[in-house]
Amino acid sequence: MYIAPSLLAANFLRLEEEIRAVEDAGADLLHIDVMDGHFVPNLSFGPCVIEKISSISKLPLDVHLMVENVSNFVDLFIPLKPKFISFHIEADAHPIRLCEYIRSHNIHPAIVLNPHTSLSALKHLMEFVDMVLLMSVNPGFGGQKFLPLVYEKIKELRQMIDEKNAKIFIEVDGGVNGLNASDLELAGADILVAGSYIFSSNDYKSAISSLKLEF
Ligand code: DX5
Ligand code: ZN
Repeated sequence: MYIAPSLLAANFLRLEEEIRAVEDAGADLLHIDVMDGHFVPNLSFGPCVIEKISSISKLPLDVHLMVENVSNFVDLFIPLKPKFISFHIEADAHPIRLCEYIRSHNIHPAIVLNPHTSLSALKHLMEFVDMVLLMSVNPGFGGQKFLPLVYEKIKELRQMIDEKNAKIFIEVDGGVNGLNASDLELAGADILVAGSYIFSSNDYKSAISSLKLEF
């Protein structure tokens, strides 16, 4: 199980300290939310800020693009060499082409599904993606209420992946906390994104450990 703190909830006035703190607290990836004010009704940070983040981070970057016209933006992020570039299936007309393009730069392509989007959207995409990100809130803001409908989607997706014997990570994003983490993991999630749960706690290490399932 991997934990990806979402920097959206960090204190932007102390970004480097916040990054060091989650590194020391056991984070596995840094989740970076990019918003364009069109696909989602909010703006966050863009490539200039993320370039600075990538220059100091010891953790691999997990870039979550919540933008329209994804192919216009993707070239801005490729030089930053993130581990994953995720984009919404609802935002791009040619996801196979885009996944192949991202892969051709040795970056793992990932598809994001909004809470209402059916898993059937992935049926013909499985061989082109390395991760599927299931949203457990409507994207655009941190600190929202978790939507339990995601449990069923995780289980079904896990089955689809196992049937194809594919190597695809399942990531869950939105409203993840110490209460739902173990159920998400038991349902079949591999990576949990958590913003407000980690950054609003006064002990990042315990917050991150509480998200990792212990038997
Ligand atoms: C929502 C973003 C999330 C968000 C998660 O649009 O994609 O990554 O920052 O924040 P929390 O964990 O507070 O729901
Ligand atoms: Zn996100």
